[in-house]
Amino acid sequence: MTRKVTKAIFPVAGMGTRFLPATKSVPKEIMTLVDRPLIQYAIDEARAAGITDFIFVTSRGKSALEDYFDRAPELEHALEDKGKKDLLEVLATTNMESGRSAYIRQHSPKGLGHAVWCARRLIGDEPFAVILPDDVIAADTPCLQQMVEAYEEVGGSMVAAMRVPEDKASSYGILDLESESAGGLSKVRGMVEKPPAGEAPSNLAVIGRYILTPDVMKHLNGAAAGAGGEIQLTDAIAREITEGRGVHGFQFKGQRFDCGSKAGFLQATVSFALARDDLQEEFYRYLNEIVPLAHAAE
Ligand code: G1P
Repeated sequence: MTRKVTKAIFPVAGMGTRFLPATKSVPKEIMTLVDRPLIQYAIDEARAAGITDFIFVTSRGKSALEDYFDRAPELEHALEDKGKKDLLEVLATTNMESGRSAYIRQHSPKGLGHAVWCARRLIGDEPFAVILPDDVIAADTPCLQQMVEAYEEVGGSMVAAMRVPEDKASSYGILDLESESAGGLSKVRGMVEKPPAGEAPSNLAVIGRYILTPDVMKHLNGAAAGAGGEIQLTDAIAREITEGRGVHGFQFKGQRFDCGSKAGFLQATVSFALARDDLQEEFYRYLNEIVPLAHAAE
């Protein structure tokens, strides 16, 4: 029997320099796809997977995130007075139950592994999930929920995985597979963070969803810097393998958008807008108008 995963860590300490000047005063995770901040997509996915405790690893300048998950009494009263029930329901999705969310600061940017380690005392001796809000995944069954279902079968640690073009492998953590099996679940025999060009063990990349055993936190204790001079989560998970414990890669069903890049963010915006009943028709018509013009201008 695996222990239920109820806690999730959201590393949100990054400076978001790729989105300057917007991120000078707005945390990247508050930037919106259509009308919902990136972090809301991550929270909704976590809730669908049964997560009840939300741990945000933040940094200076991220207080807008705490406000986002707080009550907004004036706004709520104004909407009540106007009878705007639908908008009150939308607001309710941003509320956190008291005592179920925590904000921990990462005082200096030492890498993803270090950010996760900052939450160690809140995780204790339980398995936990990690969600990187930059990786937005559109799926019929939310990605983390798919993973929890698979995890309940195999236990251990698990990372979401996706095939990437070989020339992009050096931007990801890459899996070395022991065996590939049906249902998207593969046993991993090694993983390497951002391998140099031509040295990747495969083209199966780690995507920002993880279910990890508390042992991974132990490996992060005093961990040495890895790729890019940062303390890497990938390295701590790889140690689980060398210590003989099971690590799986899970090829989820769904489409992943890299919202850490401008192109990925725009693709997600277009895709999510086209999926919305209230915008679809008008937006599709607009795209149909401008795409031929863009072709003609080439
Ligand atoms: C992080 C992880 C990497 C993973 C990637 C997925 O890298 O370190 O293993 O493949 O997220 O988005 P980052 O993109 O933060 O450099």
